[in-house]
Amino acid sequence: MSVTVGEIRRKTVAWFTERGVPTPEIDADWLLSAALKIPRLQVLLQFERPLSSEELARIRALVARRGKREPLAWILGERGFHNVELYVDADVLDPRPDTETLVEAALELLPLDAPEPVYLADVGCGTGAVGLAIAAARPQVRLYATDLSEAALENTRRNVARLDLGARVAVLRGDLLSPIPADRPIDWVVSNPPYIPSGAIEALMPEVSTWEPRVALDGGPDGLQIVRRLADRAASRARRGFLVEIGHDQGEQTAKILRQAGFEGVRVLRDLAGRQRVVTGLSRSPSAE
Ligand SMILES: C[S@@+](CC[C@H](N)C(=O)[O-])C[C@H]1O[C@@H](n2cnc3c(N)ncnc32)[C@H](O)[C@@H]1O
Repeated sequence: MSVTVGEIRRKTVAWFTERGVPTPEIDADWLLSAALKIPRLQVLLQFERPLSSEELARIRALVARRGKREPLAWILGERGFHNVELYVDADVLDPRPDTETLVEAALELLPLDAPEPVYLADVGCGTGAVGLAIAAARPQVRLYATDLSEAALENTRRNVARLDLGARVAVLRGDLLSPIPADRPIDWVVSNPPYIPSGAIEALMPEVSTWEPRVALDGGPDGLQIVRRLADRAASRARRGFLVEIGHDQGEQTAKILRQAGFEGVRVLRDLAGRQRVVTGLSRSPSAE
């Protein structure tokens, strides 16, 4: 007798629970939906449906990967982020919902009717999530997306093509702002840099500590090494200001770093859960518009 959708879902949820997967039902539904190529709701409506041996093999392959705590977005290959659907390749940070706070903060500073064009640098672009979500929502934005990791840049390029933003985006490899030629204007620098203290990485959940690339996480001994370097460089290049994502306990220190770098009107913003998430600062002498 063949196995049904309902039975495989029940076994998957039980196995994920045993393996410590944080949201076993949700993940089981996403994976069944991907393997069977049906919407998630249909998974719940087709419990009695018997599975073919090919379908069962496809489900087992995906479920085995998640059981090893590989990030769900890598297995599905996609993730919705703010206003965009992104490809998420292996070896690149899976964009977090918390990071949408950074996008929202940037959109507030970039009204739809702002004079064109506005030059934005997204440092440490990963999948391209932050910069591409902003560029998709603001037609005046010209984006430089930079990263050290070739895997990240390849992922960003795929997303630039997917979102049809090629005419407004340059994808550049290198340290922080250095790949952006010195004679090119930059109005705003946005970044979700690595900010986890080196010693805290091992204690994070396996999806992060085992699978995600260390270069995307490790912010040095106190987590703020890259933020410090970037604040200095942003202060000397950004004509309008700097926005940076932080850990929930890094607001005060980061605000001090931005002030010392020369930014004014420094603010610490909170995410939807009420935790410190983003610090913003304005450049001293805004460019003439
Ligand atoms: C926390 S991830 C953020 C990825 C993406 N922006 C997001 O929010 O989902 C940090 C990214 O910074 C990149 N990175 C680390 N050090 C860097 C450096 N010195 N210069 C440029 N990018 C760097 C990593 O490769 C990684 O893609």
